[in-house]
Amino acid sequence: MKNNLSNIKKAIKYLNNNECIGIPTETVYGLAANAYSDKATQKIFTLKKRPKKNPLIVHYHSLNDLKKDCFLDLNFFKLYKSFCPGPISFVLKLKCNSRISKNVTNKKETIAVRFPNHRLTRSLLKFLKYPLAAPSANLSKQISPVSKNDVNDEFGNKIKFILDGGQSKIGVESTIVSLIGKPRILRLGGIERNSIEKIFRKIKKLKHIKKNIVVPGQGKVHYSPGIPIRLNIKKPKKQEAYILIKKRKFSTKNFYYLSKKNNLKEAAKNLYKTLRKIKKNKFKSIAVEKIPNTGFGETINDRLIRASK
Ligand code: TXA
Ligand code: MG
Repeated sequence: MKNNLSNIKKAIKYLNNNECIGIPTETVYGLAANAYSDKATQKIFTLKKRPKKNPLIVHYHSLNDLKKDCFLDLNFFKLYKSFCPGPISFVLKLKCNSRISKNVTNKKETIAVRFPNHRLTRSLLKFLKYPLAAPSANLSKQISPVSKNDVNDEFGNKIKFILDGGQSKIGVESTIVSLIGKPRILRLGGIERNSIEKIFRKIKKLKHIKKNIVVPGQGKVHYSPGIPIRLNIKKPKKQEAYILIKKRKFSTKNFYYLSKKNNLKEAAKNLYKTLRKIKKNKFKSIAVEKIPNTGFGETINDRLIRASK
């Protein structure tokens, strides 16, 4: 605990100095900087090699902080009450007098925000006088990091500090819901589509826009381990790493279980960790068994399809 406090103090020092640092969240680790500072947020884009037009998610500790920067409506409060703090991001209308850096929003009138549910990052946010802009802490298009070591593999000594909060409990990014006009899911993630559809009873099916990409960073190629991935495979090739979600009678050292019990939540949590491990073990290709397209399976398939492009 004492150690945590001294690490949080270190984090504050770097952030106040307009530096970027790694922070833990329940979804994935973020590359964080003062969202009110042009200088600090510019560094995020440079470090990640991220196109300037791809806006960032801003992380808050409390509703009172959030109110300073954007407009909140009934739909927002319904979702907030059910899921926050937690793995959900909202796209909201930005207030004209908000101090959010133009780098964060790509000069648009909307902003993506969330309340991360991680003890260390929540205390860090509480101490700060500004919210934190934080995309996932990976180089653009690569696999998101779910531990301090993963962030270190991405940036090495290019960043000065990573707040160690253990392994991310959810393991995939937040679900992004746009509340501009009718609520829409822009990115599947750590909250199942079903749970969100229950909140908006009148809306039977939220449209998940696949063809017209609304979220700039939701390009077709993303989350890539840099090796070919084949999906829905019953029989892998000899030299392939084989990703599975339920136990087989015979296992080989090429088998990587996301779950042994066909548990899709557990599988989502292990997805990025497993892709990284396979890459480190120098496999030249990956085969994945069919994953049911329900609940968290939908999020896993979304990521695997992008990773396989
Ligand atoms: O779980 C998460 O959301 C993680 C952790 C670190 O919080 N963050 C994350 O950020 O996944 P990033 O930058 O890797 O993905 C954010 C996505 C991008 O695809 C971006 O285009 C989209 O959010 N986005 C940001 N602002 C937006 C806006 N105003 N309207 C629509 N999409 C937006
Ligand atoms: Mg990302």
